[in-house]
Amino acid sequence: MKLSLPHYVLAASLAIAMGCSTQKQSLTANKNILPVDRKVDSVLSLMTLEEKVGQMNQYNGFWEVTGPVPINGQAATKYEHLKKGWVGSMLNVKGVKDVRALQKIAVEETRLHIPVLFGYDVIHGYKTVSPIPLAEAASWDLEAMRRSAEIAAAEAASSGLNWTFAPMVDVSRDARWGRVMEGAGEDPYLGSRIAEARVKGFQGNSFTEFNVAACVKHFAGYSFAESGRDYNTVDISRNTLYNVVLPPFKAAAEAGALTFMNSFNELDGIPATGNSFLQRDILKGEWGFKGFIVSDWGSMGEMIAHGYAKDLNHAAELAANAGSDMDMESSGYIGHLVNLVKEGKVSPDKIDDAVRRILRVKFELGLFDDPYKYCNEAREKATVGKKEFHDGVLDMAKKSIVLLKNDNSLLPLKKQGQKITVIGALADDKTSPLGNWRIGADDNTAVTVLEGMAQYNGNTITYVKGADVAIGSTVMGLNTHINNTDRSGFAEAVSAAKGADVVIMVLGEHGLQTGEGRSRSDLGLPGVQQELLEAIYKVNPNIVLVLQNGRPLVIPWAAEHIPAIVEGWHLGTESGHAIAQVLYGDYNPSGKLPMTFPRSVGQVPIYYNYKSTGRPGNGQPTESVFWSHYNDISNTPIYPFGHGLSYSKFDYSNLKVSSHNLNKGSKVTITVDVKNSSTVDGKEVVQFYLRDLFASVTRPVKELKGFELVEIKAGQTKNVSFTVDEKTIEFYSANNKWEAEPGDFKVYVGGSSYTKLEAGFNYTGK
Ligand code: BGC
Repeated sequence: MKLSLPHYVLAASLAIAMGCSTQKQSLTANKNILPVDRKVDSVLSLMTLEEKVGQMNQYNGFWEVTGPVPINGQAATKYEHLKKGWVGSMLNVKGVKDVRALQKIAVEETRLHIPVLFGYDVIHGYKTVSPIPLAEAASWDLEAMRRSAEIAAAEAASSGLNWTFAPMVDVSRDARWGRVMEGAGEDPYLGSRIAEARVKGFQGNSFTEFNVAACVKHFAGYSFAESGRDYNTVDISRNTLYNVVLPPFKAAAEAGALTFMNSFNELDGIPATGNSFLQRDILKGEWGFKGFIVSDWGSMGEMIAHGYAKDLNHAAELAANAGSDMDMESSGYIGHLVNLVKEGKVSPDKIDDAVRRILRVKFELGLFDDPYKYCNEAREKATVGKKEFHDGVLDMAKKSIVLLKNDNSLLPLKKQGQKITVIGALADDKTSPLGNWRIGADDNTAVTVLEGMAQYNGNTITYVKGADVAIGSTVMGLNTHINNTDRSGFAEAVSAAKGADVVIMVLGEHGLQTGEGRSRSDLGLPGVQQELLEAIYKVNPNIVLVLQNGRPLVIPWAAEHIPAIVEGWHLGTESGHAIAQVLYGDYNPSGKLPMTFPRSVGQVPIYYNYKSTGRPGNGQPTESVFWSHYNDISNTPIYPFGHGLSYSKFDYSNLKVSSHNLNKGSKVTITVDVKNSSTVDGKEVVQFYLRDLFASVTRPVKELKGFELVEIKAGQTKNVSFTVDEKTIEFYSANNKWEAEPGDFKVYVGGSSYTKLEAGFNYTGK
């Protein structure tokens, strides 16, 4: 049957046909009167088993939509499936023209006209690229991150997309793992607040045509891959799972995220895609999540390689029974699920539950009312890449920069009369700052540091590359060859550095050296860059090191010798403008590290909220034995979590608790004075940490429990306060539940996790 009525009329008439509405008023006026669940049921009741399973099937874009219809091979099969209504969602199709063409097949040529979801990895911007999520997290600015996600959603939605595979909320403690760039760093509290902000940014309040569904990933434990090697085995305790891994997922679910993605890893010996404890018991059970779970790419099929499923048929059975609702590119469901139901290996109820969840998301997004809601060419043209978005990602980029070191106030640079030499291939690279997950953007579209600095014309700038970071072209656009050998540009760089007032060295990782599948065992400056840095330092130590990277780097030599270090991450399209404004002091940096910078790879995983152990050995000499420390280096990192300087100077004093006893149902207020003792207005992230001194299970030496980003004018003092109640001190206890236990607590407030300013209280439990 060809569809001649608008789609929403059909959807509403389906509902009425199923007796969901007794009044046959105008169908268009009636379209929203039914509760979503009843609309969903009305559609579900019309579906065959094959059509239901089809909704649980997701295909990668398989065909050049503007070319001829595929007639052979896998593409032809997928095309036939689409026409039969056996495709619930597609990924990696973008642009209104293509999305519209495929959606048209789904809603006009299939029996039930059910629209398709179009998913894409809009991880840090779409065409206009925002900073990588780890960088954004360094802003600690929740409103800025919400806005950044809102921009990404608006741009992607204008290009036909209705679903992003973000935010990634995996708490990451191991910088060897390439995907740390994609998350919010090492802290569950900060990660939870950011997860909420990003979900709200993507989804908005009411799913307009500028919002997309969020997908919270990767559920769960993925970032705990052993040895930081992507996809590796995960083996964590229940304590870590509940207290560290799960909180950001829960926060995102509570913020209303419509979908979740499971993960490649196993947990407790069971791959996440086949893990009923995670998907059914925790997410859909305990947390009451009403949306659907998509598998990760091929993760259903990968259960065979894990040694958990015998074959794809078995994998489909395990995944469906475990609550994995949609199959991304394994073809396990479409190939086997109908038979598995007929054989009684998967119950029809489980299929109905999965399909209900998927249809519900389509209703929530408004696709049943208008399947072409996201397909407006004029809007696409007017929206993608618009100036407002560039301004937005620039704002986010500036807020993401962290000033790691600034001896003798080398920064900000003087604007006039200086001879400045800029060195480093990354200073002139228009692709690398776009970072890893920028598949919607074109190469060579980032503003470089050189271009940013060129906006200031009072100084003489000389640029010399010094050495390549990556040699040759990228490998299939996916990876880079790192330059470990070519030092031929060193001499020219050394000579250009001599006599300069300041040398700016832009060094670090290429954008494609981070992200999925890009684990590293050495976290130093890649290739010959460290040698280059030392060679320049010999002739001119007045160096500002601008790092561009997607993970904490191990830079002990630079931290000791280089007077000024700026963490410039992969900041996206407006990268160079943001960095130049910070270097010249037009923007006063306020970023704080969301992940610890180790002293040595041997310390990894290293994080501020570690456990004390029975032999903490704080302050014991390194050579001493029988302490939980190294005999060759200190336990401390180079830069701790929460660290970041400013051109202002902030002094903390007068830390007070309103009462030394916290009773049940009451509150204690913590207050502190923060003084800007400099002559420059600035912003500071005031951080509040807590320590539970003894409990039914061991607790971290410090946990972030609150923070506030405050603007303080030069010379002024602000009083900042935090509130503690039972919720603040709750944790997943030996009783296997979240609870507050009576006992003594310490509180710390300051400008980094290393703050020593402390006070305390007792929770009476009464
Ligand atoms: C990644 C996911 C991503 C998916 C789709 C997988 O390889 O792990 O994070 O969303 O691909 O591109």
